[in-house]
Amino acid sequence: MRRIPTTFLKPGMCVARPLYGSAGQVLLQRNVRLTHRYIAQLKSLGVPFLYIEDNLLDGYRVDDVIADETRAGAVLRVRTMVNAMETPNPVAYVSQRTKEVSRTVDAIVDELLRQRELMVNLTDIRLEGDYLFGHSVNVCVLALITGITYGLNKEQLKQLGLGAIMLDVGMSAIPQTILRKPTLLTAPEFEEVKRHASAGYEILSALPEARDVAHEHHERYDGSGYPHGKQGNEISLYAQLASICDVYDAVTAARVHRSAYPPHEALELLAGSGNSSFSLQVIAAFLENVAAYPTGSIVKFSDNRIGIVLSTPRGFYKYPRVRMLYDEQEQPYRVPQVINTSDHPTLVVSRVLSEAEFALYRRGLIS
Ligand SMILES: [Fe+2]
Repeated sequence: MRRIPTTFLKPGMCVARPLYGSAGQVLLQRNVRLTHRYIAQLKSLGVPFLYIEDNLLDGYRVDDVIADETRAGAVLRVRTMVNAMETPNPVAYVSQRTKEVSRTVDAIVDELLRQRELMVNLTDIRLEGDYLFGHSVNVCVLALITGITYGLNKEQLKQLGLGAIMLDVGMSAIPQTILRKPTLLTAPEFEEVKRHASAGYEILSALPEARDVAHEHHERYDGSGYPHGKQGNEISLYAQLASICDVYDAVTAARVHRSAYPPHEALELLAGSGNSSFSLQVIAAFLENVAAYPTGSIVKFSDNRIGIVLSTPRGFYKYPRVRMLYDEQEQPYRVPQVINTSDHPTLVVSRVLSEAEFALYRRGLIS
């Protein structure tokens, strides 16, 4: 399957991953054939892309690191938590629901520990207005994978996961008019948003580890963050692990004022931030598990060849396993070659082709 932008969807294409709505309901099932009507609805909902079956990747499945149902259930739990501030007693509201959220996190931890292949190859399909809920679950999953690589034990992972899934719970204290503002925030509005870190600390006061993650997830290793400008290991390890995932997931999502960074650009941003925003050790653990070129990406190499990414080995985020489709003269291979670019350090990806560019090549491709 391949990720296809909604504007390139065509009737007859087969859905490869289900699409979930904001209440966790399935909007589009796997294996459904698209029609003009479905495509029009997807556009009106603001769905940015879908995962579609593609015979170029026959035999290659792209699985999420946790089950779709687990993810959808977790998003629902987070939604209820973020309503905390609208209740008369937010602290009591949160503590009553912590057990449910903890159970959800424990299930995610168990699923991840059962997996042997944890490479993150998918981008979440997020509908407009659902940013916060999907984001919290993504940060939780990414932080746990990073925590596993970092060497945390199961109990530590559960604490990290609980903090990560609730890191933005303090947003419930920020006026909706600011959170939903369709234009750039003014300086005073941004100061107001920053308050979510301290508000999260208050709301989670009964949960020491989770409370620290909420409080410190915008602190930075070099002391440049907020709310207190803590630096180095003054910042709890769980907050350090969650904050790199928070940044990665935030920049790979489209926001009102900018488009989404593709994974390889977001990863370069983080890889280059060693010991300034994040510690080198935390960055190394994060980069171990996230593919710069997710499965199905069409990439052009330094020698001019073009291929489709099949998979990425752990620890080699920039060096995917690729089925080469076009040779150095941009002629299609009659028998596509599979290459592990991690075995060819001089063969590097020079850029990722857009769907529009690839469509031009593909018209001449032998099927
Ligand atoms: Fe935040």
